[in-house]
Amino acid sequence: MPATNEIMSAPISTIAEIGKHDGQSVTIRGWLYNLRESGKLLFPQFRDGSGVIQGVVPKNAVPPEVFDAIKGLTQESSVIVEGKVRADKRAPGGYELDVSNVQVVQRVPEATPYPITPKEHGVDFLMEHRHLWLRSQRQASILRVRAEIIRAARDFFDSNGFTLTDPPILTPAACEGTSTLFPVDYFEEQAFLTQSGQLYIEATAMALGKVYSFGPTFRAEKSKTRRHLTEFWMVEPEVAYATLDDLMELAEGLLTFLVKKCLEKRRADLLTIGRDLTKLEKIETPFPRITYDEAVSQLQEGHAQGKLENKFEWGGDLGSPDETYLSSLYDRPVMIHRYPAAVKAFYMEPDPQRSELALCVDVLAPEGYGEIIGGSQRMASHDLLLQRIREHNLPEEAFKWYLDLRKFGSVPHSGFGMGIERAVAWICGLEHVRETIPFPRMLHRLYP
Ligand code: 4AD
Ligand code: MG
Repeated sequence: MPATNEIMSAPISTIAEIGKHDGQSVTIRGWLYNLRESGKLLFPQFRDGSGVIQGVVPKNAVPPEVFDAIKGLTQESSVIVEGKVRADKRAPGGYELDVSNVQVVQRVPEATPYPITPKEHGVDFLMEHRHLWLRSQRQASILRVRAEIIRAARDFFDSNGFTLTDPPILTPAACEGTSTLFPVDYFEEQAFLTQSGQLYIEATAMALGKVYSFGPTFRAEKSKTRRHLTEFWMVEPEVAYATLDDLMELAEGLLTFLVKKCLEKRRADLLTIGRDLTKLEKIETPFPRITYDEAVSQLQEGHAQGKLENKFEWGGDLGSPDETYLSSLYDRPVMIHRYPAAVKAFYMEPDPQRSELALCVDVLAPEGYGEIIGGSQRMASHDLLLQRIREHNLPEEAFKWYLDLRKFGSVPHSGFGMGIERAVAWICGLEHVRETIPFPRMLHRLYP
C-alpha cells in the first residue's frame, strides 16, 4: 500500500489549509466521504480529518481511468487526490476541487460496505461502531472542541501562575466516597483507581502554592444518566491561602475563558454541531452566586408552580432534575455555595458562621446542563479532619500523609474539579456526555 504520494506531483495540503492554494493544484490525502452522480458529472466529497471538500469530476475533463476509479469508489475508501483549488462561495468550506487524478489506497469492498451510512442509525448501533462513528463530521467537530477546551484550560492555568502537577492514578484510599471505587489488585495489596487528584494536589499546593492537575478519574457509579461516565477527565486547580470567594472567582474566570476560546477558534465546528452561539456569547462574569438555602427556596417555588415533580426538602443533595431546573433559570452558569456538610465530602471546611454548612461551591451550567464544577475550601484543622475521617469510617492509616499537611504549616486552601466531558457537553450543546470523549466508558459500555 503506498504510504506517501507517489504519482501526484502537486504539493500536499490539508483541506483546512486549502485556501492558501487557491487557483493551484494540490494533493489531498484522505477518504471518500460521499459520492453524488449527475449524468456525466461526479461530485465526490473527500475528508482528511481537517475538513471536508467537494470535488468536481466532469467525464470529458479527466482521463477515463480517473473517472472510472472515482465512479467506482465506495464510502470510506482511502484515496489520494490531485486537483485544482477553486474558490466557490456556495461551498461549505469556501472551496471546491477540480479533480485531475486519483490514487485509491484501499477500496472498501462492495461485499463489506462501510456500516455507517448517511441514513439515521440508532444510538446503540452507533456506540457499537464508535471507532467508525468518530469519522462523521459532527463527531470530529466535537473532538476538536474538546481539544480546544483542554488546551484553553491548560493555557488558563499556565498563564496565571499555576504549576501542573500530576497526581497518581493508583491510590490506596477513597477521595470522593467509598461507594464508587474501582478496586485494583496491586501485588496482593488492595488499591483503587483514583476518583480525583485532589488530596495529592493539596500536597503539591503546599509545596508550590498554585497548582493544577489534569488527568483521568474513575467512578464505579451505577448511574445511568446523560451526565455520568465511569471514566472521565478532570482538571483540578488547588491554591494555598485561597478562600471560597477566591475559588468562585477562579471558576468563573476559567469558564468564561473556555467559552471565549471556543467561540474564537472553533466557531465553524460549533456551527457544524448545531450550537446556538448566542447562548455562548452571553457567558460573562460575574456569575450569579446563590446559597444552598436560596436554591432550596427556588426549588420549592418550582415545585409549587408544578415545574418540579418532587418537593425538595432542606438537607438533601441536589438531584439531576433539581440541577436541571435551577440551571434553566439563568443564562449564565450559577454558583451554589454552602451546602449542608452532611451531603458533601469529608474534607470540606465548615462555615464558621454556621458549622452545619460546608464552604463549598457547585457551578451549574445554564440551559439545564447542571453541575460542571465542584469545589470547596479544605479543612485546615488537624483534629477536626481526623474526627471526620473517623466519622466517615475511612482507613486512618491511608490518610496519615494527608493529615501531615495539617501538622506542618497548615493554611486555608481551596480547589475545585471540572469534568471535561460535562464542559464539552455544555459548550457543544449535547444531550449526553457519551459523545464528548472518543471512547466513553459507562455502566453498560466497555466496547470498543
Ligand atoms: O464534584 P466532584 O465529585 O468533586 C471532586 O471530585 C473534587 N475532589 C474536585 C476537587 O475539589 N478538586 O467532581 C468534580 C467534577 C464534577 O463537577 C463533574 O464536572 C465531574 O467532575 N464529574 C463527572 N463527570 C462525568 N461523569 C461522572 N461520573 C462525574 N463525576 C464527577
Ligand atoms: Mg460534585
